[in-house]
Amino acid sequence: MTQELTAVHTESPSSKPTGWWRDAVIYQVYVRSFADSDGDGVGDLRGIRSRLPHLARLGVDAVWLTPFYASPQADGGYDVADYRAVDPLFGTLEDAADLVRAAHDLGLRVIVDVVPNHTSDRHRWFQEALCDPSARARYHFRPGRGPGGDLPPNDWESVFGGPAWTRVDVPVGSGGSRPEAGGEWYLHLFAPEQPDLNWEHAEVREEFDSVLRFWLDLGVDGFRVDVAHGMVKPPGLPDIGHSGQARLIGEQVLPFFDQDGVHEIHRSWRRLLDSYSPALRPCGTPGQRIGVAEAWAPTSERLALYVRPDELHQAFNFRFLNCPWDPEAMRRVIDESLAATASVGAPTTWVLSNHDVVRHTTRYGSLARARAAALLMLALPGSAYLYQGEELGLPEVTDLPDEVRRDPAFRRGGPATGAQGASADGQEGLRDGCRVPMPWSGAEPPYGFGPGGSWLPQPADWAGLTVEAQTGDPHSTLELYRAALELRRALPGLGAGPDPAGNGEGNGMRWLDSPAGVLAFGRPGFVCTFNTRGTPVELPSPGRPVLSSSPLGGDGRTVLIPADSCTWWAI
Ligand code: GLC
Repeated sequence: MTQELTAVHTESPSSKPTGWWRDAVIYQVYVRSFADSDGDGVGDLRGIRSRLPHLARLGVDAVWLTPFYASPQADGGYDVADYRAVDPLFGTLEDAADLVRAAHDLGLRVIVDVVPNHTSDRHRWFQEALCDPSARARYHFRPGRGPGGDLPPNDWESVFGGPAWTRVDVPVGSGGSRPEAGGEWYLHLFAPEQPDLNWEHAEVREEFDSVLRFWLDLGVDGFRVDVAHGMVKPPGLPDIGHSGQARLIGEQVLPFFDQDGVHEIHRSWRRLLDSYSPALRPCGTPGQRIGVAEAWAPTSERLALYVRPDELHQAFNFRFLNCPWDPEAMRRVIDESLAATASVGAPTTWVLSNHDVVRHTTRYGSLARARAAALLMLALPGSAYLYQGEELGLPEVTDLPDEVRRDPAFRRGGPATGAQGASADGQEGLRDGCRVPMPWSGAEPPYGFGPGGSWLPQPADWAGLTVEAQTGDPHSTLELYRAALELRRALPGLGAGPDPAGNGEGNGMRWLDSPAGVLAFGRPGFVCTFNTRGTPVELPSPGRPVLSSSPLGGDGRTVLIPADSCTWWAI
């Protein structure tokens, strides 16, 4: 029994804004784990530079680098001690400038992380604050509650587990007395080594403006804004009144996140970014600098506020990432995401994996599903984020011994992340298994990662997953991604879509009637079919198949769509 695919909804085009980032495919490099040039087992900037040709050949538009700034590495570099310095572990400022230049020469844009919610406890400001109570206003210091101030100032819990407050010593007095226990408490929504900044303080704002200018002057094309929804705290830091464990990428409504006050900061950053985006250049040419919000908002509508025309350019769509393997839920999230961003004229973004969540090959339970999900994502209108290694189909490493794990959440017992309804193979909330260094070549660890070992052990059975092993194999996941990205550029109905007068977000995307368990949609000149069932489905052929995540069957007139697969059709 076959079923016709018929259009049930068509979006009306209106005027379409342009910009390179509107349909960019952006590749996340987790710096510690991409490529190591000096043999210390930790990835570095020179290593990344040497592997840029892989990214150019893959066909991505931009690369996002996780933090490589001076840091004690209490949270993989998201604890920054000096925002203008490169950590010696990763190289030098000169290496950073060389990397940006080399990427630009290959036509790749470079986005760097900025971490404004908190500094490292080794940051000069925090060290000053420890010694001198009058220098504490840049952070959130408070006296404790209860007898002797022994209890934290409120009931907030850290995202990484345990109280969000740590008590400091009373500093050395002018008489040279030794520090004594029992001083004030400071707020840290993450690890104690990551004290939260007070964004009410003018110097904090000025400092970050200056930091952004520093990296823009060096030539970066934009910033991924860490915890972009967290900088502003509710007045008076009130109790939550219940013990809700905060999570990265969760959907809870917590008073210390998504405060309306953060939008004024993003508006001022947009003005700064725009001042670096020369108006005289045609839109879409190099020169447009962008901001990408890592914001966890409870609804798509709240998230869309971060990408209003005078705020940041994009926000990660964690609702898509969080979606279980369920066609109805996926369709709902896609519709809600497109509608919410269209309401503010921003592009939707799509993401399946990053350095904080279980890799989607493991979350979805099979490589077949991971490949299908990737083709679905890359066929949707808007911009897509890839996480290093997903183009190789890497699974989560689920058997890392406790002693090699570095995620601060692991020791503090906090389930840092949680992808809802997805099978995480017991790894939910653990973030080291997705950070295992990349396999490039060879038959055994470190698989060309570098001349030494690798900071997290790589599995012994990854020889078949290396870039070298997959290159040229038409059935490999790497060649699937390469083909998909090439087609995304070549087929006018993909990416931002063909219609310069279109509204940029829907681009004529329309859902097609399809059998239960199958999602099908059309874009101009293009159809995508996505079979979430564990069994093949027979359909009348909707066009000429141009790419499929699994081999198609059928007799030409009807087509047998394989289980857990996605197919692209030219029509
Ligand atoms: C972001 C990062 C995560 C980090 C946290 C604290 O969510 O993605 O890795 O631990 O911020 O900076």
